[in-house]
Amino acid sequence: MERALISDELLAERQSRYLGSQGDWDELRSHVTFPSRDQVLELAVQLARPVPGHIVEFGVYQGRSTRTIRDELWISRLWDRRQRGKRIYACDSFRGLPTAYENLPAGNFATPVPKLAGVRIVEGFFEDSLTPQLAREVGKVSLAHFDADLESSTGRALDWLTPLLQPGSVLVFDEFLGEEPGEERAFLEWSRRTGVRTAMLAMFGREPAGHTDTTDRRAILQVVGERQISKAPPLLPRRARRKLASRW
Ligand SMILES: C[S@@+](CC[C@H](N)C(=O)[O-])C[C@H]1O[C@@H](n2cnc3c(N)ncnc32)[C@H](O)[C@@H]1O
Repeated sequence: MERALISDELLAERQSRYLGSQGDWDELRSHVTFPSRDQVLELAVQLARPVPGHIVEFGVYQGRSTRTIRDELWISRLWDRRQRGKRIYACDSFRGLPTAYENLPAGNFATPVPKLAGVRIVEGFFEDSLTPQLAREVGKVSLAHFDADLESSTGRALDWLTPLLQPGSVLVFDEFLGEEPGEERAFLEWSRRTGVRTAMLAMFGREPAGHTDTTDRRAILQVVGERQISKAPPLLPRRARRKLASRW
């Protein structure tokens, strides 16, 4: 278990309000359609469309989530020229978790570096790889996906990301609430310390990631600033949708 920066009372209060009830996975698993991780990521790519800046993922493993993000970005480029300038940075040590997490030992997720066409791989532990030079190269970020599980890793990623954020930047947390809410702890501590304002756009139920039979939560948040941003566009332009529909 990592060091607690946020009080247990605050976490317990948030968890009791938003987390699933004890043992709810057993009851819900065949009775609800929780959005899949792919669907949540596809939505996040779409929500970030009006926001300029690149896409960064923290926690890549074999690249499944990275491919989903990349494919959705590529598809959206067909009808939205603004997406053509966006690059994807995928950050991971590929040596696995630096410390144990939930039911996973340190070193879990160690894997050869995946081949990901069209994606810039940033290999190394975040403490070494998330450099000021990389920050200068990336410039601005429209979407960040946090899937490094640990509070320490998520906190480091958030700190590095802070100057690259702008009004409208979309933040996705894969396991925001759960058995060991490292991502939420890191996020709350970072929000308090930096004062960066965010709004919760959506929280999604998901299967439990750790040992328990209680559902976890993914979350999509957005940075709020003075500057106004355009509304989220339709997932598929209406004309394209009609054209597709008319072929049936
Ligand atoms: C849950 S896995 C990511 C899963 C991935 N998004 C997918 O689609 O399958 C967590 C990843 O975070 C990486 N990770 C955790 N802490 C890290 C750190 N401090 N530096 C670099 N990588 C880290 C691990 O190596 C691991 O691959």
